[in-house]
Amino acid sequence: MTITTGISVTTLERAHRRAVDDLLFHSYQVHTHLDWYEPVDWLDQHPALVRLAWVNHRLAGLLALSQTLNRTSWLRIVALSDDSPANTVLGALWQDILPELRDLGVETVSALVMRQWVINYLRDLNFVFVEDVITLQRSSTLLPDQPDLPVRVRGLYPDDLPRLTAIDQAAFSAPWQMTQSEIRQASRIAELCTVADVNAEPVGFQISTLYRDGAHLARLAVDPNNQGHGIGSILLHDLLRRFMERDIMSVTVNTQASNLRSQRLYRTFGFRRNGYDLPVWMIRIRR
Ligand SMILES: CC(C)(COP(=O)(O)OP(=O)(O)OC[C@H]1O[C@@H](n2cnc3c(N)ncnc32)[C@H](O)[C@@H]1OP(=O)(O)O)[C@@H](O)C(=O)NCCC(=O)NCCS
Repeated sequence: MTITTGISVTTLERAHRRAVDDLLFHSYQVHTHLDWYEPVDWLDQHPALVRLAWVNHRLAGLLALSQTLNRTSWLRIVALSDDSPANTVLGALWQDILPELRDLGVETVSALVMRQWVINYLRDLNFVFVEDVITLQRSSTLLPDQPDLPVRVRGLYPDDLPRLTAIDQAAFSAPWQMTQSEIRQASRIAELCTVADVNAEPVGFQISTLYRDGAHLARLAVDPNNQGHGIGSILLHDLLRRFMERDIMSVTVNTQASNLRSQRLYRTFGFRRNGYDLPVWMIRIRR
């Protein structure tokens, strides 16, 4: 436990659960980037890189980072109580977790900004803007012609997970890769998970979810050795067709503004930017 000007910082314990629930429920300043989890479930399953800040025995702040992958980590939860000096609280949380990040060899921490208020705090911690994650949307009922290729699209089996994780981590660069447990969790809550096989070997996959107004393509990855041969197109064509058969015409997808390759593919299928951009900020951790 470290103490900074009346703020004490601790790790997360089971006994803190009630205080954490209260903080997350009552505070205005709560940033979550958890994709597939509710905050409390995420904290239960990822208790490692979490810090709590206490002022007068009351929980004043919570900082939670993702498990490190390829020397990167993401800010997953930042919660700051409305009646504490939020800047000082977050500063104390960050200073407390930094040595552990260094010990783990973390080189960058990224943050996907969902709410504007986070930006001032990130700036104070020396994070800088990197790029936007953009959203593309399609409502068309038309599908482009498909090349006739020896690719089989099928549902996902649980024992595909290690291979799909390897594909994901080869296809994406840091910090965008997913761990196996993230892919498992994504596939568990997904509406549609499909795998593209060539010669009975998985070479690509997609995971899509349903939300109130349509579907969301949450993940699409093709093994780099097999890219540029129409496999991404076949996965995309197949999922759009399956959703259209169920009268689900509106489909969204997110990608990095710099990921022009994926945007070309999505444009071919009628996806257009809808203006819903989310900035990514990042800090390099000095040794
Ligand atoms: C984006 C991604 C999924 C596309 O998969 P892919 O299998 O390479 O996609 P396709 O082959 O269907 O289309 C890519 C290109 O190949 C071309 N192509 C399509 N069919 C083809 C065929 N039979 N033979 C040769 N080229 C073909 C397409 O015209 C397209 O050309 P372009 O790059 O000039 O636009 C893949 O590059 C990837 O995994 N990238 C990293 C992860 C990522 O960015 N995911 C999406 C963002 S969330």
